[in-house]
Amino acid sequence: MATDRRKFLKQATQLGALSILPFSGFAKNNTPEIDFSSFDFTKINTDDEQFWKMLRLQFPLHTEKIYLNNGTMGPSPYPVIEAVNQKMLQVDTTGEYGGWEESRKTIAKFVNATEDEICLTHNVTEGINIIAQGLELKKGDEILLTNHEHVGGALPWLHRAKVQDLKVDYFVIGKTADQTMANLKSKITKKTKVIAVPHIVCTIGQIQPIKEIVELAKKQNIELFVDGAHGMGMLNLDLHDLGCDYYATCCHKWLCGPKGTGFLYVKKEALDKLQARYVGAGSDTGWSVIEPPTPVLKGYATTAHRFDYGTQNASIWAGVNAAIKFFDTITMAVVEERVKYLSTYLQNELLKLKNDNIELLTSTEPKSRGGVTAFKLKNMDFTKLQTEATNAGFRVRAVAENNVNCIRISTHIYNSPEEINKFVKFVEEMAMK
Ligand SMILES: Cc1ncc(COP(=O)(O)O)c(C=O)c1O
Repeated sequence: MATDRRKFLKQATQLGALSILPFSGFAKNNTPEIDFSSFDFTKINTDDEQFWKMLRLQFPLHTEKIYLNNGTMGPSPYPVIEAVNQKMLQVDTTGEYGGWEESRKTIAKFVNATEDEICLTHNVTEGINIIAQGLELKKGDEILLTNHEHVGGALPWLHRAKVQDLKVDYFVIGKTADQTMANLKSKITKKTKVIAVPHIVCTIGQIQPIKEIVELAKKQNIELFVDGAHGMGMLNLDLHDLGCDYYATCCHKWLCGPKGTGFLYVKKEALDKLQARYVGAGSDTGWSVIEPPTPVLKGYATTAHRFDYGTQNASIWAGVNAAIKFFDTITMAVVEERVKYLSTYLQNELLKLKNDNIELLTSTEPKSRGGVTAFKLKNMDFTKLQTEATNAGFRVRAVAENNVNCIRISTHIYNSPEEINKFVKFVEEMAMK
């Protein structure tokens, strides 16, 4: 154990809690501020349970029940809640306006993009719609989705196809990245104009081989859209390195930010391939209704700002900045490792039960593993299993989408192996019924 970490652990244990950001309101009495300026977060081990237990204290999330549904909603830690509160109070006492532009910069730095490539949205679906309704497509063109879409990933494309008489087809997500690639290749036709794929599928949580898909799409001159709902805050994202032109995500799942926040990344070179469908303050390079010769919209902003407009909620964007600071302090490399460590632990524990009734659906291929695990029981319907889990004090997600019919478990940095053990014991009991 590094000396500075030992010193920190002693200090934090004495104080009873860990505070990554100074905050003034909630639980101030039992979460005092600690000076982290000399603490090296890169030396934290993924299995250092003492550290992760302290980190858990930063989340007001109740402890009577075990929350295993981060894939739907990421509970915020105190510093985020505090930042939202503070900003709202500030806005409403001073009457100040604006401030959300700061988030564009903060987000861009966090995911290795440029500020100009970030459009602020309210959720993932909004970003998907900007692309699905904005790309130039004509009657007869084909769009390829997957057989593991979320409604938010499917509807914008199905809607575009319905309005414009386009064809939608899908490829099957394989057990391995290679199988998925083979399935995708077999579905591409001369008419395929768009591939829309989740970075991490919402159903069984598999990470998709995006870099390989980017390469394939580029070679064949096909537009590739990535639904990154589960990427932000789960993976150490580097959007320039990932290479895709369009990536929509949110800050309210794995980043544990305020609900109703997200962003769309549009690579600078791809901007002009999209027609903006909704515009307003911030979308333009100039406009006039009264100046001669005619009322005119002079042009569109030369950045992804052209797709977001009007008044934003400054307090939730302050919360996003705080969430990024929180994760940045731990470092995304450590967060990603811990997230993968916990889900791998859960998967291995389920497999160790060697119960034929338990069917693990998530791929155990290391590069396809993220923070989500899905399974079903052969002896119990998945909806009944969800009810039993709820009654036993676990919050899990039943996945009915695309007839996958399973239970999804998402574990994040506030979860512990202890909680996972309790859940595995519960599954064992259910599998023996
Ligand atoms: C893969 C995927 N895409 C899109 C969405 C929709 O996200 P939002 O509700 O933020 O629009 C979700 C939500 O769970 C998702 O899992």
